[in-house]
Amino acid sequence: MRYLVTSALPYANGRLHIGHVAGAYLPADIFVRWLRLHNEDVVYICGTDEHGTPISISADREGISPTEVVKRYHHLIKTAFDALNIEFDNFSGTARPVHHALSQEFFTALHDEGHVVPRVTRQFYCEHDKRFLPDRYVEGICPRCQAPGARGDQCDNCGQIYETTTIIEPRCKICGNQPVIRETTHWYLQLNDFKDQLERWIATKDYWKENVRNFMLNLLEQGLVERPITRDLSWGVPVPLKEAGDKVLYVWFEAPVGYISSTIEWAEKIGEPERWKDYWLNPETRLVHFIGKDNIIFHALIWPAVLMGQKRSYCLPHDIPANEFMNLEGKKISTSNNWAIWVDEFAQKFPADYLRYYLASNAPEKGDSDFSFRDFQQKVNGDLNNVLGNLANRVFAFSWKNFDGKVRHPNLGEEAQAVLDEAQAIFEKIDAGYREYQVKNNSKLGIDIARIGNRFFDERKPWVQIKEDPKQVEETLWTCISLLRMASVALFPIIPGSMDRLRRMMGLEALQEWEKPDFQADYELDQPEPLFFKLEDAVIEAEIELLKQGSQEPAVKLEPIKDTISYDDFAKLDLRMAKILEAAPVKKTNKLLHLKVDLGDRQRELVAGIAEHYKPEDIVGKQVLMLVNLEPKTIRGVQSQGMILAVDTGQGLALLWADKPCPPGSVVR
Ligand code: MF3
Ligand code: ZN
Repeated sequence: MRYLVTSALPYANGRLHIGHVAGAYLPADIFVRWLRLHNEDVVYICGTDEHGTPISISADREGISPTEVVKRYHHLIKTAFDALNIEFDNFSGTARPVHHALSQEFFTALHDEGHVVPRVTRQFYCEHDKRFLPDRYVEGICPRCQAPGARGDQCDNCGQIYETTTIIEPRCKICGNQPVIRETTHWYLQLNDFKDQLERWIATKDYWKENVRNFMLNLLEQGLVERPITRDLSWGVPVPLKEAGDKVLYVWFEAPVGYISSTIEWAEKIGEPERWKDYWLNPETRLVHFIGKDNIIFHALIWPAVLMGQKRSYCLPHDIPANEFMNLEGKKISTSNNWAIWVDEFAQKFPADYLRYYLASNAPEKGDSDFSFRDFQQKVNGDLNNVLGNLANRVFAFSWKNFDGKVRHPNLGEEAQAVLDEAQAIFEKIDAGYREYQVKNNSKLGIDIARIGNRFFDERKPWVQIKEDPKQVEETLWTCISLLRMASVALFPIIPGSMDRLRRMMGLEALQEWEKPDFQADYELDQPEPLFFKLEDAVIEAEIELLKQGSQEPAVKLEPIKDTISYDDFAKLDLRMAKILEAAPVKKTNKLLHLKVDLGDRQRELVAGIAEHYKPEDIVGKQVLMLVNLEPKTIRGVQSQGMILAVDTGQGLALLWADKPCPPGSVVR
């Protein structure tokens, strides 16, 4: 069978977090590894999604070009995948020329056949920035739930999607001004043209995961509406029509084309530039898209329609295993609030297989799942160490001590045979489970094989038997080694690094194919090394603490700009430079300092809430910015005559100094 496996192209505007990995990448990598063990012909494709408003907004915010944003994150994301041993055949990016050309070809093919038509629409336009504002460039109040901070096309609070122009109190995200509505032309994909074809196609997909299939059937039932596939942005693939001016293709129109352009890039890299066609232009190819549930509509409806509308006959998705989401310590993962675990960081602290095992055993297959550090610790210590690692340790130690590491195939008694049969049944279930992406159940079943070994070892008590019946001990050890060997195959797709090591320790070759249980082999073991190590409480507690702190960090909440004031309003503020003469903590508080300052012609006392950020000895002698005509107020028994000013950095306060020496009392204008 020929397989083309893809994982959703991650946006090149942020780092990879565990939620991404659990949904669209690890399950795909596991599936691909399993296919390869079965000698299937498979290419695994990915790359970064490099266009769209999230990227141009990040670039605007940081004052750098979108290209720089993309370069930075492409690299970070690839590094994170490498650290987790997620191995694509090619990892491309959609800003590359091959992709631009192919996406334009896709648009043109649809346009030539009348499947894409222009429409005049109403859109927000910012008169200050002189540009149209695509969805995410507008923010306002949600027209459905009234939550503030709703995006132009979707509200994060209630999840509703709406016409951008219906948003309440719209603001331009670039300058904060209120945009106006103007007419402009956009090009719309006529999804309805493909209705019959889509229906016939979906009818053959009775093996799809229920969430995906039902979603699709629902959409088809509701009727297919035309969808705009162009946007007013300067960053993206230019629309290949003269009359489109400098509009670009909608990112969700061109991003999936990236699966093909990345395959083309792969074919070029391996020196067989036509090879991609063997996959994409072959109706027998099993095209499998691994995605998160928020991407279903694009992969199961729009993308297939786009493929159907091409001149060449591309293969259509064979399966779309969409996963649900993974939460973190009971809360939704949020990159803007820094409530996330970043894969690159995590992989520097823990072995890749710990994360792979945990995410697999906790995969959000049927519903959302939760990452919790305690649970992570428990799975690593309980399953990997106490079950799998323990079986390896005791069997190796015992074999070396009593048989010099050589364990010969015995004449099997009934008990041992029963144990092997039990494990073999599980082993076969695991094999079948991988075909259905059953990552979660398979991690459990793989460990069960080792569990059977520990149970048998305990029952047989070789430490007692060694004196009475060494033959039986040899049988026990050989049986347990056979179970370890089965586990090394069964769990290989999930924890390939550790299973490689386990096989090396057993004196076996690296796994090349799905090895059926071997009940004849003799073993010459290598010296054992521990397979896993336990995670101490202190390590886990530190991680939890870090996560909590991190989430309070930057995420600098920028406040909206206050109402305009007149110059006269401003002139009322009397701002001067004050030299700090004395500073002392205010008793019974840990936030306040009692200051005495010099204003040139007079001295003043005041209370400042800076004790958590500055020690008295660090600020005495410094000159700081002070508002001197604020009405006096008694705080903790001290008359505070004025206020010194500081910046709230989100992580603490920063006092303001002048960049040249200035006499105390100098006026600030
Ligand atoms: N970048 C999108 C996301 O992270 C996924 C794009 S998948 C593709 O949600 F098919 F469009 F490439
Ligand atoms: Zn604006």
